[in-house]
Amino acid sequence: MYNAALGNVAVLALTLISAISGENDPPPAQNVAWSSYNFKTILTWSPKPTNYSYSVQYSRLSEDKTMHCIRTRETECDLTDKLENLRSTYTADVISEPLPSAKTDFVELPYASAPHFCPYKETKIGSPKFKVIQNEDTTKMEVHVQDPLTAIKRNGRPVNIREIFTSDLMYKVQYSKAGSTGKSKTQNHSNVVKIKKLERGVSYCFTVAAYIKSRKPQHQMGAWSIPVCWPPKTASFFEEISWYVLAGGATILLFILILLIIMIVLCCKRARLSKQVKIEAASGTTTTTV
Ligand SMILES: *[C@@H]1O[C@H](CO)[C@@H](O)[C@H](O)[C@H]1NC(C)=O
Ligand SMILES: *[C@@H]1O[C@H](CO)[C@@H](O)[C@H](O)[C@H]1NC(C)=O
Repeated sequence: MYNAALGNVAVLALTLISAISGENDPPPAQNVAWSSYNFKTILTWSPKPTNYSYSVQYSRLSEDKTMHCIRTRETECDLTDKLENLRSTYTADVISEPLPSAKTDFVELPYASAPHFCPYKETKIGSPKFKVIQNEDTTKMEVHVQDPLTAIKRNGRPVNIREIFTSDLMYKVQYSKAGSTGKSKTQNHSNVVKIKKLERGVSYCFTVAAYIKSRKPQHQMGAWSIPVCWPPKTASFFEEISWYVLAGGATILLFILILLIIMIVLCCKRARLSKQVKIEAASGTTTTTV
């Protein structure tokens, strides 16, 4: 909080200086924010630079700063590989620099600071893939969850979220009878979530999300996956003919109809044409006889 306030004061002061020193000074970046998904972390800001460029300076809290994305004309900077210690909190500044050709009397360049960011506590977790397995006893099912991969690589191989969060990671499963709105929930630390006391012969729909216990509530839940229903409902004949099939059938019928019309029109034309030729031939013979 203190740092952010200090940053704001510094930016204000710099804006003031630039107002005094001339119009050729680049503006500070705005809306500096972190965008992080499965540990792929990008710093974004605005506006698009016209006749100036940006550089990014990042560091772990209270450590020396390192430059990255130097003199970029973009409004984003990929810091995925730079935030090596995932549990650390990082800061970053976006610095606006005039092009090398521009004459400038800046002592310090205008900059804007990003909020503090910790990958472990804040990166968004994507929806996991899963399979539903039904036991012999049909009142039980098991949801087998696959750990989503992250953008972090170790020995050239992407690391999955289990390897990062270990026992801090849980999977939540939400399920309901197919077609009903009432939802039940269950969860487990392991990748297998068992569901008991289901009704025999009834299809249930499942959806799964990762859950990180140690995080602040607004960052705990990962994205929910698309529901999977099991066992697949044995559909009646009419349900089986999907709208796609119906639409496809209608299209084919229409096509045949158009083809028929074209053929009829062509036939009539040819008949008329041959009649005309006969008449012409007939008139030709009359002229020669005259
Ligand atoms: C950069 O462009 C702005 C307008 O787009 C202009 O006011 C300013 O003088 C230019 N600065 C330099 C250094 O060319
Ligand atoms: C959670 O996982 C453990 C270990 O794999 C297992 O023994 C337990 O039955 C599971 N519980 C649920 C509710 O899935």
